[in-house]
Amino acid sequence: MKFNKKLYIKTWGCQMNVYDSSRMADILAPLGYMTVEEPDDADMIILNTCHIREKATDKVFSEIGRLKIHKDKKVEAGGSMLMAVAGCVAQAEGDFIMKRAPTVDMIFGPQTYHELPEMVAKATGAYGENRIVNTEFPEKTKFDFLPEEQNQGASAFLSIQEGCDKFCTFCVVPYTRGAEYSRPVDKIVDEAKRLVDNGSKEITLLGQNVNAYHGENVDGKTWGLGRLIEAVAEIDGIEQIRYTTSHPRDVDQELIDAHRDVQKLMPFLHLPVQSGSDKMLKVMNRKHTADRYREIIADLKKARPDLVFSSDFIVGFPGETDQDHEDTMQLIRDVKFASAYSFKYSARPGTPAANMTNLVREDVKTVRLTQIQELIGEFQAEFNADTVGKTLPILFERKGKKEGQLQGRSPFYQAINVPANERLIGQIVDVHVTDSTGHALTGEVVTAVSTSENLTENIVKSA
Ligand code: SAH
Ligand code: SF4
Ligand code: F3S
Repeated sequence: MKFNKKLYIKTWGCQMNVYDSSRMADILAPLGYMTVEEPDDADMIILNTCHIREKATDKVFSEIGRLKIHKDKKVEAGGSMLMAVAGCVAQAEGDFIMKRAPTVDMIFGPQTYHELPEMVAKATGAYGENRIVNTEFPEKTKFDFLPEEQNQGASAFLSIQEGCDKFCTFCVVPYTRGAEYSRPVDKIVDEAKRLVDNGSKEITLLGQNVNAYHGENVDGKTWGLGRLIEAVAEIDGIEQIRYTTSHPRDVDQELIDAHRDVQKLMPFLHLPVQSGSDKMLKVMNRKHTADRYREIIADLKKARPDLVFSSDFIVGFPGETDQDHEDTMQLIRDVKFASAYSFKYSARPGTPAANMTNLVREDVKTVRLTQIQELIGEFQAEFNADTVGKTLPILFERKGKKEGQLQGRSPFYQAINVPANERLIGQIVDVHVTDSTGHALTGEVVTAVSTSENLTENIVKSA
């Protein structure tokens, strides 16, 4: 491939957006675009945006403002720079961005990026004239048009499902991503094989609602996520499998069995619950109770005793009382999450909750968020401290921040920094965990001959 143009992509939001950004790079590569780390003299800039919480649109506008300086400079010097806004803000606010930001040439939603070559052809050459807004939900899925993916490194994302039909009352995703769609089994298996051929050892199956997966197999039968995981696990070279993000309502027996039977399925599961109060879960339209969630956790742990959990919480949803908040705190104490994200509720335009009136005061939200984060932090620190002294297989993903260190993940998705030779990037190596700082672990590579000086050399030679 001949690269003669520079592409800068900035990505916000969920892992689906990270995946989409890498696929956009794949599509643009045959047109000569090479991804670069700095926007300064790029030929094309894509802002891949997220609309999930407030200030999303403001953030995009301020980024456009910053980048416009680079673009103006380049245009003044006789060059050009295509500026594109993609992702969920583009989908939700396409026309508004078009009006407010004349410097933006292309606006397109998450379901149309396979049309990038045509969009680029239309938009190039005429600075500011052939501007494009493309926020359709096409009949045919983009997945039928994407080129083969390039190297994603040791740990790769593979999108298997998109969109959401759940309509939680606070959430924009069903509007920005559209209806649920599951890719066929054979396409997923082929993509997984190619990722392994390119050196990936771990695959994370992605979807907004990944366990609602119901894809068609070549024999015409519909498979759920559990079956799919088993099929992916059979591929030689895949060592570790994860999936995200799942919904408690779609945890079925087949998936629970997969956690029991598939050793390659990692013992860490992100299972967002949002609240521990039945009243809140109901108004959020989550369609399960807190006890049902506890039951699911218990069933999963019975199937795979070392399984640990993380979750998402929303604090200060309209109508949330002190008691509702306490119910959430209790759920956290019961499950003892290994980590979790928590957010203040923010009203999103167009969602049912945006019309609710019994709002929680900002200062109350702040107090509750702090309490939840402190409690989660305690359990996270406790879990990390429990790992100290153990030997775990670590997948080294990249160089660490400190010279001579590599960064990796434990099976429980803990970040870990280890002094080790760069040649171990992309390998799964036994590491003795020596310390924990609450958020991350540190450790030492375990070798047969274990003297600290020649530690890393030995493992390379014996590998
Ligand atoms: N599909 C996943 C969540 C995707 S959005 C699920 O069903 O759980 C990621 C997280 O953002 C959500 O789990 C929720 O905790 C948070 N979130 C979504 N909308 C929000 C809003 N309006 N305000 C605050 N947090 C929100
Ligand atoms: Fe949003 Fe709910 Fe769908 Fe998750 S399940 S993406 S929170 S609507
Ligand atoms: Fe954000 Fe869209 Fe993902 S709103 S969280 S980028 S699906």
